[in-house]
Amino acid sequence: MSTVNQVVDRQAEPLCQPTPHDIGEQRGPRPEPCLMVIFGATGDLTARKLVPAISKLAQLDQLPDEFAVLGCSRGRRSDEEFRDYFREAVAEFGDKTALDDPKFRRLAGRLFYEPADVSVLDEMHRLARRIEQLHKDYPLGNNVLFYLATPPQQFLPIIRGIGEVGLTNRPRASARGSGWARIIVEKPFGTDLASAHELNEALRSVFGEANSFRIDHYLGKETVQNVMVMRFANSIFELMWNREHIEHVQITVAESIGVEGRGKFFEQTGLLRDVAQNHLMQLLTLVAMEPPAVGTPDGTRDEKIKVLRSLRPLTVEDVVAGQYAAGEIDGKPVPGYREEPDVAANSQTETFLAVRAFIDNWRWAGVPFYLRCGKRLPRKLTEIAVQFQHPPVNLFRSLDCPVHPANRLIIRIQPDEGIALEFGAKAPGPRLCIEPVSMDFRYRGTFGQPLADAYQRLLLDVMIGNSSLFLRYDAVESAWAYFQPVLDAWKAGQKRLALYRAGTWGPNPPASGASESSWRDE
Ligand code: BG6
Repeated sequence: MSTVNQVVDRQAEPLCQPTPHDIGEQRGPRPEPCLMVIFGATGDLTARKLVPAISKLAQLDQLPDEFAVLGCSRGRRSDEEFRDYFREAVAEFGDKTALDDPKFRRLAGRLFYEPADVSVLDEMHRLARRIEQLHKDYPLGNNVLFYLATPPQQFLPIIRGIGEVGLTNRPRASARGSGWARIIVEKPFGTDLASAHELNEALRSVFGEANSFRIDHYLGKETVQNVMVMRFANSIFELMWNREHIEHVQITVAESIGVEGRGKFFEQTGLLRDVAQNHLMQLLTLVAMEPPAVGTPDGTRDEKIKVLRSLRPLTVEDVVAGQYAAGEIDGKPVPGYREEPDVAANSQTETFLAVRAFIDNWRWAGVPFYLRCGKRLPRKLTEIAVQFQHPPVNLFRSLDCPVHPANRLIIRIQPDEGIALEFGAKAPGPRLCIEPVSMDFRYRGTFGQPLADAYQRLLLDVMIGNSSLFLRYDAVESAWAYFQPVLDAWKAGQKRLALYRAGTWGPNPPASGASESSWRDE
């Protein structure tokens, strides 16, 4: 039992805020030596995400003591040309200061390149020989980390090719390493339920589930991980985290950018497959899941699956698909989607998707979850807004001031990362007027340093074999199963695409859909 003294002591404690130095010192275990083989080494994802993450890890001295990268794609290039390409990508998308850092220069000497057409077995054999040679030349612990950063259609041939040339059952480890072969598979993982299942089967037979890492970079974001911390490391939120107190939840992944030269990829993908099936669903499961069993390595992934399986089957009526037309972003004119390079003039690809979801379990029955994602919306904004119920009785209803809105908890995933709790307060003055105010936690102000990029964290996790922030086979399939009825209906000609002007918040809500404020609220 707490005593008065204990209470007094607690009050006397200084507020302990971690300093940037404390955080900067945080380190996990150093990963074992390894060779990272990147398929799609000269593509968009490698340049924008992987190169900046790898070079930053080098700068922070967080890579394994012995580490090398073997880039692989179709085009002919020498090792030296690949090194130049890598440096240019750091300069364009990463932290330029890395280029002068001796730790980066050491890494640059360990960058290699091998051209290969992955659909040609002979070329996969040549790649395998190069991998063997690099292991002879450098003490890489006999460990290989494959990264599939190619267009999704190539995932299956690459996984099968790796299996056929025996790259996963190379001679077991030397004294320096444990001789593992792991694979990171980018998203979208498949194009529908059947293709995701086929990919899972291939992974299971070539790598096994323990060595298969299905990446969703949202799970590597600090603020996404903080959703669980907020809910389960504090007692105040969880008491109200249910249908008794929550009216609805909105999850938004808005971007002001268009397709950024990725028209070809986007035409085959669309926003349902690019963002909704993965990033949005992951955010949803984190908000809605039950607390995981303590000490169970797979506890979180088990709970997420239960949420996905409790989703009420989706119909086309619960979905609004849109496509941006020409408009303005930040006062500058931008073209419509159909005018983007590599996009068909009559394209039916969605660049906006809104979904009204229900989770039919005891905690959430009857609570709508409004999920939306879109390109060319007014600004970049990823957030979770939890709207609480109004108080049961409005004591202030006779006042002539406007009724204040119900409480909202806003979890800002990005930008301006943080959490705000909105509530009503009496505005100073003779009349009893209630104004909405906010208690605001901001990552930047509190912790004083920029947040690490998601790819940095996730790459290190794979190197140490920690799969907790990666998707399990069943989660990917359940998320596809949820969207499959809509994909089927669209394929059967039931896709209704609403155009919206670039720079607006997307098409209007459906007549029977959420209230205007639910769809429009920022
Ligand atoms: C990627 C999508 O997974 O996520 C892109 O393929 C999208 O289309 C990107 O732009 C958004 O990521 P972030 O981290 O900028 O929110």
